[in-house]
Amino acid sequence: MGAVTASAPGKIILAGEHAVVYGRPALAIPVQQVRADVTVAENPGGPVWIEAPDIGLSAALADLPADHPLALAVEGVRQAAGLERLLAMRISIHSTIPIAAGLGSGAAVSVALIRACAQYLGVALSNEQINDLAYRVEQRLHGTPSGIDNTVITYGLPVFFRRGQAFEMFTAACPLTFVIADTGIHSPTAETVGDVRKAWQAHPETYEKWFDEVAEIVFNARRAIESGDVAGLGAAMNQNQVVLRRIGVSCPELDRLVEAARDAGASGAKLSGGGRGGNMIALAGPEMAEQIAAGLSAAGAVRTLVTELKP
Ligand code: PMV
Repeated sequence: MGAVTASAPGKIILAGEHAVVYGRPALAIPVQQVRADVTVAENPGGPVWIEAPDIGLSAALADLPADHPLALAVEGVRQAAGLERLLAMRISIHSTIPIAAGLGSGAAVSVALIRACAQYLGVALSNEQINDLAYRVEQRLHGTPSGIDNTVITYGLPVFFRRGQAFEMFTAACPLTFVIADTGIHSPTAETVGDVRKAWQAHPETYEKWFDEVAEIVFNARRAIESGDVAGLGAAMNQNQVVLRRIGVSCPELDRLVEAARDAGASGAKLSGGGRGGNMIALAGPEMAEQIAAGLSAAGAVRTLVTELKP
């Protein structure tokens, strides 16, 4: 049987992270420049073998713990395919999405892995099924994921997402350029989400009020995107960052990059994803992206990337 390959993009959250776990809306877009790629090929006479050199993994699938995210993803496909056992296959995973950095690396690996295995096993899964399977893996990784990462990555579209509801797609009225900058600090989403939950349990009224504030910001951001109001979107991103700091998920390195982006001419900047490290995003006029990226590198970013949301 010939080898098959599947690929999935990274993502950024334009507004609404954390509050989205508590039922408020959020906006996310795919980032096609960073990707997870999975190839499945024959492994004649051998076991199902899985290798992910980026994380130093090379093992028989059967030797991974049953609740290992990669094992869960493959097992989900086996069940969906109605197969008693898997074919002898070799699964290779490569990703250019930094891990634990707010760019959706876990969800992208799950989606590409599920797609490649399904294709290899000859089972046609809908995006909805792929999204459901990837969500189950996210649950193992994060505890209480909203589902926004697996959704934006499965569909590869800009999404307005609300937990438990069908997502809506949104379209920008004019091209929007974002500079993404990495603090280089690993920050597993499960930890920040867990800490926010503890704080919410201790001060439910305060946190609910802040999450409502974020919801308002997300509606404003969507309106701004859909009407071509770049300054309005920048303002919404800045307001979102204020609340994210209050919630306790920013950190000095993120704050420094956010400030550097604004100093270099960004019309808005905020952390993106779980926070306390990982990546931040800045909204740039297209002619300003290079200058902003340079300002971010000078302020300590270990990597910058420019992405565009096209109308
Ligand atoms: O850090 P990331 O890329 O996994 O972003 C997750 C976004 C959160 O809102 C913090 C969690 C979630 O499940 O929505």
